[in-house]
Amino acid sequence: MTTGTPRPVRIAASILAADFARLGEQVAEAEAAGCDWLHVDVMDGHFVPNISLGLPVIEALRRSTRLPLDVHLMIEQPERFITAFAAAGADHLIIHVEACRHLHRAVEQIRAAGLSPGVTLNPATPLVMVEGLLPHVDQVVIMSVNPGFGGQQFIPSSLSRLAALRRRLTEAGLNVLISIDGGVNPDNAGQAVLAGADVLVAGTAVFGRGHTVAAGVAALRRAAAQVGQDRL
Ligand code: DX5
Ligand code: ZN
Repeated sequence: MTTGTPRPVRIAASILAADFARLGEQVAEAEAAGCDWLHVDVMDGHFVPNISLGLPVIEALRRSTRLPLDVHLMIEQPERFITAFAAAGADHLIIHVEACRHLHRAVEQIRAAGLSPGVTLNPATPLVMVEGLLPHVDQVVIMSVNPGFGGQQFIPSSLSRLAALRRRLTEAGLNVLISIDGGVNPDNAGQAVLAGADVLVAGTAVFGRGHTVAAGVAALRRAAAQVGQDRL
């Protein structure tokens, strides 16, 4: 059991699951429901087998919300677009270790552009791939699905990866946020928080059909709160 004040749990609403025909309203609903960040998935059809949205949508989101824009780049050579995403209004820029050859430089470029750098890795990529970057980033995103699509099933082994990363950060005394992205829902959110997640990225659980955004967010909050002080 940890002592002291528990770290807050943030909810990052992933707009990939939103109704794009009324994106402004959906963003306002997420904001009103108390989401902390908006997570924006950018896909290029090369790094992942899907194409989603790009810079003009980020510019439009920037005009319609004050929430931090947590931009997840699922694109090859993301370093080519750092200044463009900064100009479009991104706050956090997350790049994949598998997509970028000179990660340290890219992370520094993100910081120099005035953004908060994050790195992420696919479920099959060993955690050691981010080891050298831990002192340089603000966030590590553990992918709990293979990236490319919303609405997939949470991969259970992600929880032990999350816990291992949490232990590593604690040992090193580093203040880096851990996010978990993919298939997060009220059934697994408590376990993710217990394993050490600071940020729950959720698309379907927030914007999915069958419940309101407010109810979706409230269910995630309840699940996260149940684990209380026991988290790593
Ligand atoms: C997957 C994306 C996720 C996705 C999560 O490639 O990175 O952010 O939107 O959606 P759900 O919560 O539906 O799995
Ligand atoms: Zn994402």
